[in-house]
Amino acid sequence: MNNLYKYKNYNINFVNENMMGPNSIIILEELLQGLTIKRGSRILDLGCGRGLTSIFLAKEYDVQVYAVDLWTSPTDNYKRFQTLNLDNKIIPISAEATNLPFAEDFFDAIISVDSYHYFGNNDTYFDYLKKFLKKDGLIAIAFPGMKHEIHKNIPEEMKSLWPEEALPMWQSIDWWKPKFENHLNNFKINELKCFDLAWNSWLSCDNPYAIEDLQMIKTDNGRFMNLIGLSGNLK
Ligand SMILES: C[S@@+](CC[C@H](N)C(=O)[O-])C[C@H]1O[C@@H](n2cnc3c(N)ncnc32)[C@H](O)[C@@H]1O
Repeated sequence: MNNLYKYKNYNINFVNENMMGPNSIIILEELLQGLTIKRGSRILDLGCGRGLTSIFLAKEYDVQVYAVDLWTSPTDNYKRFQTLNLDNKIIPISAEATNLPFAEDFFDAIISVDSYHYFGNNDTYFDYLKKFLKKDGLIAIAFPGMKHEIHKNIPEEMKSLWPEEALPMWQSIDWWKPKFENHLNNFKINELKCFDLAWNSWLSCDNPYAIEDLQMIKTDNGRFMNLIGLSGNLK
């Protein structure tokens, strides 16, 4: 599907051990289709979790990655990067996304998969984040959301399956669009086609959180939940 193939080159046991939600390598591969990332670029992988996307960026694009996360220990990530001989290309950092320890105009690109909705679901965060990106730098973000605005009318059968705290973060394309469009050239926001592929990969691993998510995805059955991707170059 969708001409995605690089994700298949990654050891499935390694991926299963390190996923924290729908397969972020699959999501990133689709997100970056048609976008240019130059060799040697300096990239922020924001909310990198256990570093799967940082690994993909370092390996496939030969770039320098700052792998920033809050919940995952940078030491664990460093050890993981060492086992792959990527510790000279990926710098693990523990930081809060709203208090980043970087210089302004520092990054050639900022990438974020399945984490931006935790801290960026408001009208002010992108104004803060964009300071760290060079002019014309690339931003590429993917997160879970909804196909349509649904919050005033939650379907009865989903009420017990959607985590209450997640709903304010799972928004539609129409809700997200104005938060970015005036800041970016070449702006694009769309529903990602890899929803089933990325979710099935997560649901087939034996992570207890994946087992919890199974009923939610089955009951939703492609009706409401979405994966949204956006990209553009800073004006
Ligand atoms: C569902 S996990 C996804 C991790 C990884 N991007 C992936 O797709 O495998 C969400 C990540 O967002 C990060 N996160 C949430 N809130 C954050 C914040 N305020 N600052 C930095 N990272 C945050 C967490 O540390 C967590 O690793």
